[in-house]
Parts: sequence; structure tokens; C-alpha cells
Amino acid sequence: MHEFDPGYGREPYASLVRSHPGTETYPTTGFRTEWGPIFHRGRLDGSARVLVIGQDPAAHEAVTRRILVGTAGRRFQGFLAKLGITSSYVMINTYLYSVYGQQAGNAHAHDDAIAAYRNAWLDALTNDNPIEAVIALGGLADTAFRTWRTTPAGAAYSGAYRHILHPTYPDSAASTGADRAQAMAKMLTDWNSGLDALHGAIPTPDQPVPLVHYGTDLLPADLGTIPEADLPPGLPAWMRSDEPWASRQGATAADKRATIVVQIPADQRPF
Ligand code: URA
Repeated sequence: MHEFDPGYGREPYASLVRSHPGTETYPTTGFRTEWGPIFHRGRLDGSARVLVIGQDPAAHEAVTRRILVGTAGRRFQGFLAKLGITSSYVMINTYLYSVYGQQAGNAHAHDDAIAAYRNAWLDALTNDNPIEAVIALGGLADTAFRTWRTTPAGAAYSGAYRHILHPTYPDSAASTGADRAQAMAKMLTDWNSGLDALHGAIPTPDQPVPLVHYGTDLLPADLGTIPEADLPPGLPAWMRSDEPWASRQGATAADKRATIVVQIPADQRPF
């Protein structure tokens, strides 16, 4: 048997998808609108207990059409597993489209039209599911949650909330000159505080587990596997593998923006 994500046929999600914003809301100078909107990952059947706010989709997500399936997604899937959450979650991103350029993410953090559509999703998800905890990944997601809190539905939310460092924080920090090992240890210390705050805050986890902290570096066992049920029907298993399989490539900025190279990882080839 192969489970799959049935998509957006149910209301209120069908209407949200039909009415998604385009370039009038997400300028092409700051967002890769050409790769299309990518809406969510996880349950849309009313069974989610944990609501996750990520940042923006990257190359792997552009192919699978579900969010948080690459490195960030696998790291965070491991965090959910440490809370005993293996299926009762739903995730959306702060931005519907991939951010283009370093400044765009911050520059659009307070755009009213972007927030209005994201708030409509947060309203729908909290209305449709018994959400017990919201987890924001990174500062932009924290801003998104706080923006929603100023709305009537956001103000009425009474479950737990935790903002943790974004799962690719160590990689971003290293790319601007920081020591990667130190940045990883900093993120995992922060994630351990998040586990302390959230472990008791979800009364009915999918699989109750004892609280086990991270060490100073991520171990292979700390990475979660993206469940087959989270992806559209028919996607090959290697798209959920632990190795990267999609990357932006091109000799010029325009070519790189226009090109995602997809390659089956060597150990996943049946030939
Ligand atoms: N991919 C996503 O969809 N969201 C993130 O925050 C990071 C990677």
C-alpha cells in the first residue's frame, strides 16, 4: 500500500488554493514566482495537533509541491518525532513563494497583502484542527505568528507557542563566516529548550516518547524521514531520501534562477 497526500479538494483549502495571490502581491524582484506557489505539508483532514510555520520553499519543494521536504524539513521532522508527533501536524510557510535575494525576506515581512492570505490559512487551520501547539521556524515565521495574533482568530488561540531557530540556521551562519559547529551547537541548545517547553504541552502525541535532548551535533538518527503520506501520489521514494537531489544551477544569475537540476542519489538508483 502506498499512502499519498490527496491535495486541496476539501474546503476551506480548495477555495484558499483557488484564490492564491500572484505577482501583484509577491513581486518577482523578491520572490521566485515563476516556480509557482507551494502551499503546505501535512494533514488537511482536521487531525492536526501541531501547526508549524516555516519560512519559504527552496529547490526540493519546487519539485515535490509540498513544503519542508529538503534539509530543513528532515531536520525538523526529527524535532517533531522527539515530541511524539509523527502524523498529526500541518505546516505552512511565511511566504508562499521562494524568496529571491538576501534582503527580500526581511523587506516583505510586514506586507499587508502577504499577511492577509497567510492569516486566512492560519484561521482555516486553527478552525479546522484541534491545534495544541504552534511552532515557528526562524524569525520571519515568528513575525508571521505575531502578526496573526493581532487578528481576532489569532488572539483567540490559547494553545502553546514556541519560536525556535530555523533548521538551516547553522548553514546560513556558516555562509556568513561563523563557525558551523558552534552554530549547530547553538541551534541544538535552542531546540532542546523548545523540546522542554513543548514536550508536556501536547497532551495526546501520536506516539508518546520520553524526552531525549539533542547533543552538540545532529546525528543521522536525528533526521526524520518525510512520510510518503505527505507527498502527492506517485512521487518516487528517493524524493524522500536523506540525500539532496535538487539544486539550482546555471552560469548566470538568470540561468540559475531558471534551472533546477534533479538527480537521483547514487545509492537510490535501481540500475
Ligand atoms: N523549505 C521550506 O519549505 N520552508 C523552510 O522554511 C525551509 C525550507
